[in-house]
Amino acid sequence: MKEYKVAVIPGDGIGVEIVGEALKVLEKVGAKYDTKFNLTEVKAGGCAIDEFSVPLPDATLEVCKNSDAVLLGAVGGPKWDTLPGEKRPEKALMGLRGGLGLYANLRPAKVYDVLKSASPLKEEIINKGVDLLVVRELTGGIYFGERGRDVQNGINSAYDTERYNVEEIKRIAHVAFKAALKRNKKVTSVDKANILESSRLWRETVTEVAKEYKDVELNYLYVDNAAMQLVRDPSQFDVIVTSNIFGDILTDEASMVTGSIGMLPSASLRNDSFGMYEPIHGSAPDIAGKDLANPLAQILSVAMMLEYSFNMTEAAKDIENAVEKVLNSGYRTGDIYTEGSKKVGTKEMAKLVLAEL
Ligand code: IPM
Ligand code: MG
Repeated sequence: MKEYKVAVIPGDGIGVEIVGEALKVLEKVGAKYDTKFNLTEVKAGGCAIDEFSVPLPDATLEVCKNSDAVLLGAVGGPKWDTLPGEKRPEKALMGLRGGLGLYANLRPAKVYDVLKSASPLKEEIINKGVDLLVVRELTGGIYFGERGRDVQNGINSAYDTERYNVEEIKRIAHVAFKAALKRNKKVTSVDKANILESSRLWRETVTEVAKEYKDVELNYLYVDNAAMQLVRDPSQFDVIVTSNIFGDILTDEASMVTGSIGMLPSASLRNDSFGMYEPIHGSAPDIAGKDLANPLAQILSVAMMLEYSFNMTEAAKDIENAVEKVLNSGYRTGDIYTEGSKKVGTKEMAKLVLAEL
């Protein structure tokens, strides 16, 4: 029997409920594939601030470092929104990404056939389908650059710095091209090279890396145009590779295009098999604890963990198929509910997935 160590960070808000349900799925898959997952639950985000006065306790990072993968729910909530930047729950995410070296953030956005009506896009656009993968650089750029405040000419100022080196760009480009080889062999590199020097280096470097991937078609878009193209015709995209901040913005847009942010998982990876897996959505404090949250993004995050960290491709496919079957049978949580379908809560939705496994 294989054994893996998984650090579990439920976090705040709906994170707690959906992680609980996703772990049931993990356990069931483990039993089927003769694999044992040794779980260690740790705190990060608002709940850690409450208990330890810091968003990311050292002990939490240590447990993650000593694990084979991390399953994260969501962090944050209004209770901690007025804290200064360094103490906010979001700081835990930065600490985990930076501290674990997770430079490659994979955010797939795909629209399920039966959920097409949930997309805000016109039918003729969404009917062409959406199945894209954003590869977002996650440990560099303006998120981690020099920042500060000073006084210039007697006026209070603040600054943040976008900086990338060639090595950072190369490694994320390789991730994107490799992903494209397994998909539709197309990479769109998104930057602002008409203005930003860091974007010009980005574009030059991606162009160099592309020479090693002759089978992959590469094109470039400025980020403003990319934002527009994503709603004009999202079906044109396969893999999008971009910087930390552009990736942040475009992945929110891409998730909205699919109409079901509650369905989208993500993986944050480095060069070995270690990774952190979490839904794209936040902690949704307004519906927390009410059995209303959609657990599917968290469950699909488990599938990504199985695929990328444990090389259990078949088990991952099982989960994805189970989710699709439940959707095809007409079951919906509130966020993806449309008239005529069957409304279920968090627990019931997870139960239905479990039954299909
Ligand atoms: C995301 C989130 C985070 C980010 C926030 C919560 C710090 O928006 O993962 O996309 O900006 O990266
Ligand atoms: Mg974001």
